[in-house]
Amino acid sequence: MTDTITSHKTTISIIVAIAQNKAIGKNNQLLWHISDDLKRFKRITSGHTVIMGKRTLFSLPSGPLPKRRNIVLSDTMTDCFGGSCETAFSIPDVLDRIKNEDEVFVIGGGMVYEQFLPISDKLYLTIVEKDFEADTFFPEIDFNQFDLLDQESVSFDDNLGFSYRYETWKRK
Ligand SMILES: NC(=O)c1ccc[n+]([C@@H]2O[C@H](COP(=O)([O-])OP(=O)(O)OC[C@H]3O[C@@H](n4cnc5c(N)ncnc54)[C@H](OP(=O)(O)O)[C@@H]3O)[C@@H](O)[C@H]2O)c1
Repeated sequence: MTDTITSHKTTISIIVAIAQNKAIGKNNQLLWHISDDLKRFKRITSGHTVIMGKRTLFSLPSGPLPKRRNIVLSDTMTDCFGGSCETAFSIPDVLDRIKNEDEVFVIGGGMVYEQFLPISDKLYLTIVEKDFEADTFFPEIDFNQFDLLDQESVSFDDNLGFSYRYETWKRK
């Protein structure tokens, strides 16, 4: 009889809304309010673990996101909203905390995306088809390393003043 060796692999997914010029935030705020995108974000991430930096946590209007396990990277924060989120002190610490999960979502911001992009398996992108002035940007993506799984374009929205599209990519 042979032993069956099963190895568990957690899918690390990045979810982000990026402008044409890679802008993602300014003054610790988002650059736009796309209600359909926020609904999509909630639908995709609910029931999963979300991983974020401390600045992104403090940018959220009501703190940790409900119906999701929230892991927050910080060197300094010991109490995470009275226990409604967990603090991780390094990337290896995050990886250890998620090792039994199926799919986790890295939700920002710039500093955290930069560290997770090289080890990410999937990218859920919302690409805003306009340039924005910003202080936080998404790192350069080498799309040769990914296959496009699906895309959907949303035509120009008069209220928003731009068009945008959704793209999902999987690492080759
Ligand atoms: N467009 C989008 O989809 C999107 C999504 C999310 C966020 N954003 C935007 O991004 C901006 C925030 O991004 P940001 O780059 O300024 O900050 P961030 O990545 O949210 O948080 C940075 C903080 O996380 C902690 N951290 C990061 N890496 C760590 C590590 N390896 N070990 C320990 N702690 C670590 C540090 O906290 P300590 O100082 O406590 O050590 C650091 O100061 C905001 O404007 C936000 O609105 C945009």
